Amino acid sequence: MEKFNSSITYDRHLWEADVQGSKAYSRGLERAGLLTKAEMDQILHGLDKVAEEWAQGTFKLNPNDEDIHTANERRLKELIGETAGKLHTGRSRNDQVVTDLRLWMRQNCSMLSALLCELIRTMVDRAEAERDVLFPGYTHLQRAQPIRWSHWILSHAVALTRDSERLLEVRKRINVLPLGSGAIAGNPLGVDRELLRAELDFGAITLNSMDATSERDFVAEFLFWASLCMTHLSRMAEDLILYGTKEFSFVQLSDAYSTGSSLMPQKKNPDSLELIRSKAGRVFGRCAGLLMTLKGLPSTYNKDLQEDKEAVFEVSDTMSAVLQVATGVISTLQIHRENMGRALSPDMLATDLAYYLVRKGMPFRQAHEASGKAVFMAETKGVALNQLSLQELQTISPLFSGDVSHVWDYGHSVEQYEALGGTARSSVDWQIGQLRALLRAQQTESPPHASPK
Ligand code: ARG
Repeated sequence: MEKFNSSITYDRHLWEADVQGSKAYSRGLERAGLLTKAEMDQILHGLDKVAEEWAQGTFKLNPNDEDIHTANERRLKELIGETAGKLHTGRSRNDQVVTDLRLWMRQNCSMLSALLCELIRTMVDRAEAERDVLFPGYTHLQRAQPIRWSHWILSHAVALTRDSERLLEVRKRINVLPLGSGAIAGNPLGVDRELLRAELDFGAITLNSMDATSERDFVAEFLFWASLCMTHLSRMAEDLILYGTKEFSFVQLSDAYSTGSSLMPQKKNPDSLELIRSKAGRVFGRCAGLLMTLKGLPSTYNKDLQEDKEAVFEVSDTMSAVLQVATGVISTLQIHRENMGRALSPDMLATDLAYYLVRKGMPFRQAHEASGKAVFMAETKGVALNQLSLQELQTISPLFSGDVSHVWDYGHSVEQYEALGGTARSSVDWQIGQLRALLRAQQTESPPHASPK
């Protein structure tokens, strides 16, 4: 049972947050007159020593240290004696653990936010450098319309900027102080929670002690953030896996991010991308698992809540690794421009043929039908769409004239899509500008969090 009940094997990661929280709390106790200045100094000094031992790897766990909170307090007592017993006055592990977890996650979110911005920046840089490369855009995985390669990169980068914004919003809700809530009813000894908030640099104070000790919305939100971010990364990975096959041959992963086959010497496998795709499943599982744990709980703290930490640690580690590998993949990826260009075919310009007629005054529905007839005619004659003669086109509509030849130019095709958000050069440049501005704004919104005193 002791082994089953214990969480020290994983919540030891919270050692630093636990020391920070305890230092702030001892200042609160001193201000409330529950510790003398000398006692507070003794505790602060002892806690620094505890932190030093963790940092140097010399902290020795006892077999009956149940969790990080009991371990740190046990060690504090060994170091400073009975005064250590005053530290937990009016505090419960219920408000302590959730304070620690919020402190840890706050810092971790800043780290993940920086990694995510780095990935987005890498993608935007690449989009800027390769703006003039054209290739097929797909819907239903069927060749649809010519687009800029940069437009594809940015389509994924834009999704990731939503994740990046969302993470900063989640972080705001993580950054709320629960300490001073006690086990359930609050703090009866005059501890000033505003002082605790300022000491730990939290943005706000939780409103209700029963809610504060038992809600894990911020954990659920973080796990959902990760799930959605993984959905985006997994979809991007899937595109790149396809584009890297011999059948497409648009991109080639660098050797650093692919592996060989132990049996087939010719193979180069996109393991990095496959693992990114697969890790999405693990992250979704953690999110669903936590929600399942929460849904049936009666009011306030129940030991079920101890399960939140493994989910957070595992998902944080996974996200950190995935974001770094994705950045590596994107920055070292090779593209095969010629293959991309060769994959464009005149049938992808059928829509443009309809737009040509629209520009000559034909209603779009009619133009769509006329272009469909041209596609059918080309197919029956066994020629490419752009091989139909002007005379043949004129049997479909008298609006066709010599200038129809301009339609058969892929560069001309993409340049039509000038409306903001489209694949024309000007619009791609606009997107790049927007994303760069967003990255700059997010950087000022989320400076690396100052370590609390
Ligand atoms: N290790 C526990 C957890 O992670 C700390 C809180 C224990 N509280 C309690 N009332 N048993 O949730």
